[in-house]
Amino acid sequence: MKTITSEKLTIVGAAGMIGSNMAQSALLMGLSSNICLYDPYNKGLEGVAEELLQCGFNDVTITYTNNIEEALKGSKYVITSGGAARKEGMTREDLLKGNAEIAIQFGKDLKQYCPDVKHVVVIFNPADITGLLVLLYSGLKPSQVTTLAALDSTRLRNELAKHFNIHPDKVTNCRTYGGHGEQMAVYSSTASIDGKPLNDIIGTPKLTHKDWEEIKGKVVQGGKIIIELRGRSSFQSPAYLSLEMMRAIMGGEKFNWPVGVYVSNNEFSNIMMAMETKLDKTGVHYHIVEGTNDERNALQQSYRHLCNLRDELIESGVIPPIKQWRAINPNL
Ligand code: 2OP
Repeated sequence: MKTITSEKLTIVGAAGMIGSNMAQSALLMGLSSNICLYDPYNKGLEGVAEELLQCGFNDVTITYTNNIEEALKGSKYVITSGGAARKEGMTREDLLKGNAEIAIQFGKDLKQYCPDVKHVVVIFNPADITGLLVLLYSGLKPSQVTTLAALDSTRLRNELAKHFNIHPDKVTNCRTYGGHGEQMAVYSSTASIDGKPLNDIIGTPKLTHKDWEEIKGKVVQGGKIIIELRGRSSFQSPAYLSLEMMRAIMGGEKFNWPVGVYVSNNEFSNIMMAMETKLDKTGVHYHIVEGTNDERNALQQSYRHLCNLRDELIESGVIPPIKQWRAINPNL
């Protein structure tokens, strides 16, 4: 099997639903010929590894370990879904405290065991905050750590395709920015339906303002809807999209959706959130997001919500105040 790289790709949380799905998809997508699976839950991990080995893939080395040092040693690409998953009745934000501790420890592990890692993708929720903590404690550069945010934009595309009863390919450039949580900013000005700007259709009988509000609601609640349908948190779509991100970082096909990235500029500071970005071998680079006044206000609101989550951790002493961050990670 021809793969994009032979450098080590580590999948953290590999015994879980996202992680095991990711391992299989990474093999099918031909990302790396050296895949290491990590999970502290050894029995489940062995089960996942055994199944993958029993697929009979050629030309690829699959290893697994419940030792984090071994998992990260020499790794150049790391994707982690290694946090607690959201259950019915919970918001992504409800996971904050427990998963924050996991993210901090994981950042420290990266720093200690694989300081030469090229890129890390963080998926576990609330991803904007866990990604920020991984960046802070790993000592990596902002271009080296990203979070999964695309899922909201792909959900917007899906909802619009269903509404207009057209093929999703005809719904282009759907975008949500800001947090991957209850306060994401769902944009309409970027999208087109069969070549026609979405904003020219909103407020017509084809898509009334009420319809649009309903669609936005379904996008924001997209994760909850999957939990209701399946009795568990989404795993196929986050697994696949985060691998698409890593593929672009490895030098493969370009990634066409927003990405969670560390943002610090005049308008937003010391936060991780979905922006318009470019992913390539040099990492992630974001652009300033345009939009209507309403959209920019929604983005501001989403940003403030993320700042509140971050500040909650600062106030409760889980992480130090921002002015001390540079002592932990000089790249910030
Ligand atoms: C979702 O939105 C779990 O965050 C994930 O489905």
